[in-house]
Amino acid sequence: MNLILMGAPGAGKGTQSAKISAKYNIPAVSTGDMLRAAVKAETELGKSAKSYMDAGLLVPDEVVVGIVKDHLSTEACKNGFILDGFPRTIPQAEALEAMGVKIDVVLSIEVPDEKIIKRMSGRRVCHCGASYHVEYIRPKVDGICDKCGEKLYIRDDDCEETVANRLKTYHAQTEPLKDFYAERGILACVEGQEEVADTTALVFEALDKFNA
Ligand code: AP5
Repeated sequence: MNLILMGAPGAGKGTQSAKISAKYNIPAVSTGDMLRAAVKAETELGKSAKSYMDAGLLVPDEVVVGIVKDHLSTEACKNGFILDGFPRTIPQAEALEAMGVKIDVVLSIEVPDEKIIKRMSGRRVCHCGASYHVEYIRPKVDGICDKCGEKLYIRDDDCEETVANRLKTYHAQTEPLKDFYAERGILACVEGQEEVADTTALVFEALDKFNA
């Protein structure tokens, strides 16, 4: 299954993509994670991406399209993949079509902005990719990752002002993709729930219909 996971910043794309990846045995390809790795490694790509990310803006299309293209052509993606956070603009979606990549389903996780703001202020992440929340998804030991034992930290772009900008960017540039994919008959939407497991159940129900 070739899947695109959509949703506002903090809607739970990363959380659900880990569940989908485990159930369907397909890798998650997160442009956000790839860009953060480039920032951490201080590559040329990372240096130029950082200022956009810190401002809550999108990194230019040609940069992101290039890294996704390289990744989708690897062996790991040959039996399917989850695109988490890509495409985020109509030109990115058109570029994906131009690559000849067939998408089976686009799943959008819907969460109102007020809930997003609350979630983001409590998010704590680990360098290993694990994500927690101080209220909803607590690690066994406060501030320490269950998976690798490293110290958790707050993402640079999770401050209130940047989250507000990321939401604006999402509504202006990414949300129109829902119409783009609805016209192609491959859009499914689920309401993000209070409990992660409840959202996962809705996600699996929606995906099983497309994967039947
Ligand atoms: P990216 O890393 O993709 O960020 P995002 O889309 O803003 O999404 P997040 O990772 O913040 O949230 P999420 O939806 O994965 O939610 P999560 O599961 O963590 O991108 C970062 C930046 O990179 C962008 O701003 C942009 O600059 C750049 N970029 C990336 N892709 C790009 C592209 N294609 N083009 C251009 N630029 C690009 O959950 C959030 C929190 O809520 C967590 O704490 C979690 O534990 C908690 N939570 C999750 N589910 C629930 C639930 N059901 N109930 C309660 N809490 C929950």
